[in-house]
Formats: sequence, C-alpha cells, structure tokens
Amino acid sequence: MNRPENHMTEQQHSMRECYHPMTEQLLAWYDAERRILPWREDPTPYHVWLSEIMLQQTRVDTVIEYYERFLRTLPDVASLAAAPEEVCLKLWEGLGYYRRIRNMHKAAGVIMEEHGGVIPGTAAELGRLPGIGGYTAAAIASIAFGEAIPSVDGNLLRVYTRITGDERPVDKAEAKKAAEDWFRERIPEDRPGDFNQALMDLGATVCLPNGEPLCERCCWREHCTAQREGTWESLPVKTAKKPPTEEERTVLLIRTDDRVFLRKRPEGELLAAMLEFPSFPGTLTEDEALDAAEKLLRASGYVVNIERVEALPKAEHVFSHRIWRMSGYLMRLEETALTINGLEGGAALAGTRVAEEKPEEDFAFPAEISEVVSKEGRYALPSAFRAYRRELKKQLKSGNRT
Ligand code: ADE
Repeated sequence: MNRPENHMTEQQHSMRECYHPMTEQLLAWYDAERRILPWREDPTPYHVWLSEIMLQQTRVDTVIEYYERFLRTLPDVASLAAAPEEVCLKLWEGLGYYRRIRNMHKAAGVIMEEHGGVIPGTAAELGRLPGIGGYTAAAIASIAFGEAIPSVDGNLLRVYTRITGDERPVDKAEAKKAAEDWFRERIPEDRPGDFNQALMDLGATVCLPNGEPLCERCCWREHCTAQREGTWESLPVKTAKKPPTEEERTVLLIRTDDRVFLRKRPEGELLAAMLEFPSFPGTLTEDEALDAAEKLLRASGYVVNIERVEALPKAEHVFSHRIWRMSGYLMRLEETALTINGLEGGAALAGTRVAEEKPEEDFAFPAEISEVVSKEGRYALPSAFRAYRRELKKQLKSGNRT
C-alpha cells in the first residue's frame, strides 16, 4: 500500500525542488502547525474512511470521541460489515445525518462481497461505493493511498476564493471546477494527503469561516487577494439558501411505570430507520392523538388501556433544511392492560424482547425506560427527540408522579 509519510525522506527532500512555491510554503506550515488528530496517527484506509465520513457536517472536536469509540467496537471493515445496523446507529447516536452510517455500513458489505474485504485504492473506485461522493473519495484516496487529487470542500473553497479573489458563487459548478484546477496545479505527487489536510487545517484554524481570519498566521498571506484588498468578509460568495421548511409534529410518550413505546421510523423519510417516540405530522388534538396511539399500538399487536393523557411542553428541532415544531402528549397505560398479541404478563414481555432485538419498521414496542433515558442505554434516539427524552427522565426522577 502506498502510505504517505508526514515527515520527509531524503528522496522527498530532493523532490521539494520541483514544488510550486506556494506548495512549499503550505507544507512547511503544516509540518510546524498541523493539528494532532487520531486518524492522522495511523492513516489506514479504514481509519481515514471513517474519519472522513464522520467529518462531513461535523466538527473535529465532536468527532474525536465518536471516532475512538467506534473503532473500539468495530475496528475494521469486516467487523463493520458483520455488525447489525442497530449497533452502528447506536455508535452514531448524537452525530446526526444518520444516512452517513447507513451508507457506510452498506459500503462495508460491498467491500466484503465485491472487493475481497479490501478497500479500493483510487478515487474513481471509492466514488462508486454508497455514501462516498467526489470530495470524500478524493480525501480518502489522497490521505490513505497517496493519489494526487485535491479534495475540495468548504474549507478549500474559502481559501481558494480569498487567495484568488474569485467572486463566482462557490455552490455552482463553475467556481468549484476552477478551484479544483487551481489546487491540481499545486498538489504535490509525493504528499497529496498532507497537502489536502494542510488546507483543511488552514481553513479551520487560520482562514476562519466565521469572524475575522488570522492573516498574520497565514503561510499564503503574501499571495492573498482578500488580505490585500480587505475583502475577506465578502468571500466566498454563496447564493442565498432557501429558508428551512417548517413542519408541525406531535410526539407521544406512551408509557407504563417502566416501559415506553418506541418505533422504527419508515424508510424514505427524515431519520429513516432510526427509533423514535411515535410521532405524527401536524399538531394533533388530544382526541386525534389518542386515536393515532391506539391505532399504532393495535397494528403492532398490543391491546392497551390508556388511563390518562396530559399535554407536554412544546419543543423545536432544527435540521439542515427543516424545522420541526413539536407538541407532545404523555399517555399513561394501565400496567395490567398491556396485552400483547393476546398474551399477558411474562409471556407478553417475551414477545417484547423479540421486537427489541430487531425492531421492525413502523411497529411500536415497549422499551425499558432505563435503557431509553440513559446515553449508555441500548437504544439510539436521534437528538430531535432530546426534549422528550429529557421529559421522560424528569418524570422518572420525580418518582413517576406524573
Ligand atoms: N475535515 C475533513 N477531513 C479532515 C481531516 N482529514 N482532517 C481535519 N479536518 C478534516
């Protein structure tokens, strides 16, 4: 495997003479200032792949802990491919954008079946795997396999537009193509991964996305149009984003003393395949919410007697293109009335255990509350439901006097 080194060999020293002067400056800066990050310590293809998937949409500081925990449980492609999806989702809980891990899991299966368990080594092949787009393919290929291809993300676009003064919108193909060409002229054959990561670091720590850039620390200061002309604030240019769609939803906490109903969200929707407290479109009245709960539970094989209903505080969750405005109800079930498929008591709960092992889409099952409210518990609940999970925890703390 062609694994790039962080520090230069003799041969690389002699190759430095053919570097573009800007490349020379950038790599020298990186050698002195680079961030020490776990995936840089041992950049195997699997490590780099995992880190790049986690780093899409998520900050480095947040990723580190998740990255290390993930690898302790699923240390290689084979273990990832063999793991149940629920285990992968649990390891991703709180990172958001869950499609990333579902695709990565699928891609691990493809690698085992079609590539003999070996992660393919070029950007072109990587880009054919689920969840690996052009940017990520280039990042993995350059960092883990030494392919000289720039990985142009938001950081690199910001650096490029400020240095060159390119005022074309960066969310359009034309400017992106120009940036790729510009970086391709500068990326070195012998350290492409370091080149890309140097730019990621420069973009994250010097050429800042929010607030004034730290130009006095920049290795490319002398080349920078924005620095010379004082235009950093207006670069990069982005076309105005559509405002997020607002949706009303009603969330139900349907519970006994020690169990609360969860269900797996349907495919094709937001948070597909994640667990949720059953939730429904719109702001339901108490009667509508009761109807929805009874229908869902009956369809899932439960006959219940809802003893009491109470409105819960409203909550809000902001996704990237959508906002959920949520109202909620607490529904208390009579413990003895929890009858499952005609079974009661212990036999009924044995059926519950089957549902817990492998929750089926759109079916509700009564999960143990203690496993739902704790972060270490077995269920992965998306952050969108955080306010209602907290509500449940509060009820538990107050001795269930709800
Ligand atoms: N953002 C995306 N990939 C990264 C990497 N390899 N290092 C630091 N930040 C990143």
